[in-house]
Amino acid sequence: MKRILVTGGCGFIGANFVRRVLDLRPDWSIINLDALTYAGNYGNVRDLEGDRHRFVHGDIGDEELLADIFSEEGIAGVVHFAAESHVDRSILGPEAFVETNVTGTFRLLQASLESWREGKLDPDFRFLHVSTDEVYGSLGPEGLFTETTRYDPSSPYSASKAAADHFARAYHRTYGLSTIITNCSNNYGPYQFPEKLIPLMIFNIINERPLPVYGDGGNVRDWLFVEDHCDALLTVLENGRPGETYNIGGGAEKKNIEIVHIICDLMDERLDRPHGTSRKLITFVADRPGHDLRYAIDASKIEGELGWRPRHGFEDGIARTIDWYLDNMSWVEKITSGEYKRWMKENYGNRGTG
Ligand SMILES: NC(=O)c1ccc[n+]([C@@H]2O[C@H](COP(=O)([O-])OP(=O)(O)OC[C@H]3O[C@@H](n4cnc5c(N)ncnc54)[C@H](O)[C@@H]3O)[C@@H](O)[C@H]2O)c1
Repeated sequence: MKRILVTGGCGFIGANFVRRVLDLRPDWSIINLDALTYAGNYGNVRDLEGDRHRFVHGDIGDEELLADIFSEEGIAGVVHFAAESHVDRSILGPEAFVETNVTGTFRLLQASLESWREGKLDPDFRFLHVSTDEVYGSLGPEGLFTETTRYDPSSPYSASKAAADHFARAYHRTYGLSTIITNCSNNYGPYQFPEKLIPLMIFNIINERPLPVYGDGGNVRDWLFVEDHCDALLTVLENGRPGETYNIGGGAEKKNIEIVHIICDLMDERLDRPHGTSRKLITFVADRPGHDLRYAIDASKIEGELGWRPRHGFEDGIARTIDWYLDNMSWVEKITSGEYKRWMKENYGNRGTG
């Protein structure tokens, strides 16, 4: 049995990854370390608990806990998702982003290094640091991010992820730890917390609430269905070269307003509402400070070297996503109670974020 440590495996991408690995790799088992912050939900993986999936409730910054986990012999990989991940929250309170994304990543790297030096890790050990294309800053109307694009983060979130990337790279160059970094574009799909654009729109349309769109909705993102991201990560974990960076993207560039229109029209169909009903809920709100204009990924390295390609186009992925949310409304209601509701009210009144 090949054993890997997944951090943040109760969050959006982490939970999808845990499910995908357990499905596709019957001889793998997972230790899932998650602090269950507002964005983490044990319910995302509860049904998987058993011999091949062990949940550990804890913080990646907890050195004693990490030492305990790494005292196990033969861990074959770390897939590091755990992070504070919402740009708006990083603007309102950057400190948690430094603690988890920078210090937490450093502690995890250090615990891996110590275990490696003690000869406890599997000889093929890989530390996969899951990062974002936001570290590259903003593009103009033309061009794509490549793996050699200069780092130029704009928000406290992207600055903290950039710092973590530098530590992951430095641990390879300085100590020879087998780290690999992936920088991925915006993900969407099942289990995404409804503070992010796509689930927020779906959720608000269902509830006939305003659909807040930043600025004029002209910001462009390159969207990737989460299952395709998970497959890319699995490919990199198994076949990527230590010390390398791989950009991952869906080749599906869309303006935020285009995304909102597509969701509105599909939701009108699904909910049997007259065409145009949901578009009437769109409300343009003051732009986010430091809002990057455009992100777009050149994924030719992972495609050429490792043979990965996204299997879902945007139309297919968004339809699956909408159907998942409609089939899982009790999930949405459960996770948007408590702390999240309080935070939204304190910071946004009843407006919501995009
Ligand atoms: N969502 C995207 O579009 C996207 C795109 C590219 C990269 N990423 C990166 O992928 C990773 C996962 O993103 P996501 O959207 O799934 O995030 P998420 O916010 O949905 O999940 C984060 C998870 O990490 C856990 N966590 C937070 N702080 C922790 C700590 N100190 N110790 C242990 N666990 C902690 C949370 O409980 C949660 O389960 C992040 O590193 C993010 O930067 C996300």
